[in-house]
Formats: sequence, structure tokens, C-alpha cells
Amino acid sequence: MNLAQRRSPGHGYTDARCSLPVVLACLALLAGCARSDDSTAAMLLRGKAVYDAQCAVCHGAKLEGQPDWQQRRADGRLPAPPHDETGHTWHHPDQVLFEITKHGVQRFAGAGYQSDMPAYEGRLSDDDIRAVLAWIKSRWPEAAQRRQAQIDMASRRTPER
Ligand code: HEC
Repeated sequence: MNLAQRRSPGHGYTDARCSLPVVLACLALLAGCARSDDSTAAMLLRGKAVYDAQCAVCHGAKLEGQPDWQQRRADGRLPAPPHDETGHTWHHPDQVLFEITKHGVQRFAGAGYQSDMPAYEGRLSDDDIRAVLAWIKSRWPEAAQRRQAQIDMASRRTPER
């Protein structure tokens, strides 16, 4: 277009006018992208606030979990596992993570299972739970995020329960 413009300014002007709708469409698209980036950023901020207030005390400020988290304590309970890539949070589909957070691990381990993991139903809204899980996921390296997304997709094809 620049070459054409240099040879014939008239054409350049017409071209610019013709591309106005394209420019407007691009701007609308950009505005849309900016909005969804904003809402993702807002969700992650909210998720981090929820994590710091509710989860960090057990799962660690850096998602590192409690020491020896794979060894049951003398009382038979497990310490809090890490939520970073060294744990197994990323081995679970979204729905399982959501239900564990909302209803507790008893949902999967059986009603009599003794655990320190609280059920957040009534304490956190579903949106808060989604936000905190989104924030946890955002801390994983890309490979773990990709793997968890595959596990999630597979579980949607063949529901776990
Ligand atoms: C009082 C300590 C405590 C707090 C607070 C806590 N957890 Fe846990 N959490 C645990 C323990 C202990 C486990 C291991 C459960 C078991 O098998 O007994 C666990 C397990 C989990 C799991 C399952 C992980 C896996 O790999 O299977 C998820 C998900 C989870 N917690 C999310 C959260 C979120 C999100 C918060 C904050 C909203 C939170 N937890 C707050 C103690 C806690």
C-alpha cells in the first residue's frame, strides 16, 4: 500500500477510507480483548486475596504445603499438600478441585474420612472458589497447566462419578 500510495496519492486516500470499517472492527476487537484481560486480572487478584486469607495458613504462602505432607500424622490425618507443581492438585479436573474446596475431601474419600481440609460451602461463594482455584492454577508452570487442562478435558468426556 505504501508503494501504491507513493505512486498515486489519490489511491492512498481512497484505500485509507476503505479501511476505516476494518480499523473500527479492529478497535472493537481490541476493546473486547482488553475487557476480558481486565476481568481475568480481576479474578486472579480476587483469587490471591482469598488464598492469602483462607488457604495460605495450611497450604503455605508460596503454595508449598506443610512439611512431610505425604506422611500421615500420629492422629491419622494428612498434612496439607502443596498446591504448586510438586503436589497433586494439578492431577485433578476442575470439577474435582471445586467440589473438594466447596464440600471437603469427604466428597471423594467418604463421609467418615478425617481431614483438616475445611469445606468452604457457606464461607466462600462459588465465584470466590473459582477465583482461588484460577489463581492457584496460574502459579503452575505451563507444562503442568497444559497437563491439567488435558486431564480436565478427559474427565468431561468420561465423568469421574
Ligand atoms: C486447616 C488447614 C487447611 C486449610 C485452611 C485449607 N486446606 Fe486444603 N487441604 C488441607 C489438607 C490437610 C488437605 C489434604 C486432605 C486429605 O487428604 O486429608 C487439603 C487438600 C486440599 C485439596 C486437594 C488437593 C489434592 O491434591 O488432592 C484442595 C484442592 C484444597 N485442599 C484446596 C484448598 C483451598 C482452595 C483452600 C482455601 C480456600 C484450602 N484448601 C484451605 C488443609 C487445609
